[in-house]
Amino acid sequence: MRKVVIYDFGSQYTQLIARRFRELGYYSEILPYNAPLPPDAGAVVLSGGPSSVYAPDAPLPREEVLSSGVPVLGICYGLQVITHLLGGKVAPSERREYGPAELRVLFEDHLFKGLPKSFRVWMSHGDRVEVLPPGFRPLAETEGSPYAAIFHPERGTFGVQFHPEVAHTEYGTDILWNFARFAGLEREWTPRNVVEYLKREIRERVGKDRVLLALSGGVDSTVLGYLLEEAVPGQTVFVFVDTGLLRWGERERVERLFPKVVVIDAKDRFLNALRGVTHPEEKRKVIGRLFVEVFEEFARSLEPRPRFLAQGTLYPDVIESVSVVGPSATIKTHHNVGGLPEDLGFDLLEPFRYLFKDEVRAIGRVMGLPEEVITRHPFPGPGLAVRIIGEITEERLERVRLADRIVEEEVRAAGVYEKVWQAFAVLVPVRTVGVQGDYRTEGEVIAVRIVESLDGMTADWSRVPYDLLARISERITGEVPGINRVVYDITSKPPGTIEWE
Ligand code: XMP
Repeated sequence: MRKVVIYDFGSQYTQLIARRFRELGYYSEILPYNAPLPPDAGAVVLSGGPSSVYAPDAPLPREEVLSSGVPVLGICYGLQVITHLLGGKVAPSERREYGPAELRVLFEDHLFKGLPKSFRVWMSHGDRVEVLPPGFRPLAETEGSPYAAIFHPERGTFGVQFHPEVAHTEYGTDILWNFARFAGLEREWTPRNVVEYLKREIRERVGKDRVLLALSGGVDSTVLGYLLEEAVPGQTVFVFVDTGLLRWGERERVERLFPKVVVIDAKDRFLNALRGVTHPEEKRKVIGRLFVEVFEEFARSLEPRPRFLAQGTLYPDVIESVSVVGPSATIKTHHNVGGLPEDLGFDLLEPFRYLFKDEVRAIGRVMGLPEEVITRHPFPGPGLAVRIIGEITEERLERVRLADRIVEEEVRAAGVYEKVWQAFAVLVPVRTVGVQGDYRTEGEVIAVRIVESLDGMTADWSRVPYDLLARISERITGEVPGINRVVYDITSKPPGTIEWE
């Protein structure tokens, strides 16, 4: 399968470019800006980036990328790279063009085939093309950029000053599709094909060996478990560590989905180790260490010993480590309790290392997993421990678990669950006075957090209907012992984080 190779020059939108092509059915991969051109590259995209091409340390691609004959599309900084390297001139604009601009199409072929003569595009740049390189011609212009889109017919090289990958650009996806069609790529990246491709890959790699998979109840490890059973039936040992810090019904859910799962009941161990621990980072450390200990003990007890350890690592984590080589701006470090030590002596099997989360969901769907599993909200590795502010006791765990269940039930009943990134309850150790059944009460507070987000990196609190909040509040104060007040968290991220700890 020939792929779209995206060279990353540090744009905040690089991942979006990869997603857009995959949504269109073309396999795409992100490489650092200075990586060699892979032999199966069918099209190349040069991303945007914060640099200036005429700066002394400006990141530039290898020579072969522009000379190989593979069609190239430069976006923003990528356009300026093409201009600079092929003999044109880039200079600072008189004013920075940022935000929407009206694009006028001068030449209706190629990138703009089938599109209106003018439409809105999204700009974000300080430099612009002043002189075109030899052989290039303009395809479109805006008020501030006479060369908003350019093309070299013999080379098959395109450049656009605006960002076709962002939703604010009208017809942006059509432009990327036109480029992929120009490059003659096939739309082969469909969920069904991906399933077949991954199964083949797993079979070839695993052979007759055994695999160990730790299930978390989350989407990624569940879909991976199903995939392993389809690819190499009966060869996987499934294990689930019950830390006692899980959502309501999680263990039973996992047992229903994987009847053969080995459940390790480590509730007491976790609770004992967490006694008296109140600092968030300390909680995370204790839980992380204990999880690895419990897992190691189990892994050593297995006879014969599985050769592979399967993990649901996703593409954004891989890009994060790849892009360190490139100039990409730092992405938030992921703290994953499921991240098991690599010195256990297993070979790592990470079939999802090139997939985005929505792709994992899509393949889960074509494999027939229940919708309830596929749309399940993310849950932090350290579990309810980071949703209990202060000390973790059995009683407080029960409270937050029950409140969380009520939030989930009501959010589902209101048809909001699938529309939000996460909806959950946080237990706040503040004593407040209330009146319940004619008696004065003193109880703790539950904070309800419902957020919308695309990837968890940034988020906004969800403007859910007041009626939904009212039902959640009534049920929590009525059904959860020790709680007499419910508040709604109206903080976005940044400045807040999604979780409270
Ligand atoms: P924050 O709280 O950092 O969370 O805004 C962003 C997203 O990550 C989840 N999260 C975690 N996931 N291990 C995980 O696997 C963790 O330790 C962890 N901490 C936070 C959080 O639920 C949100 O979706």
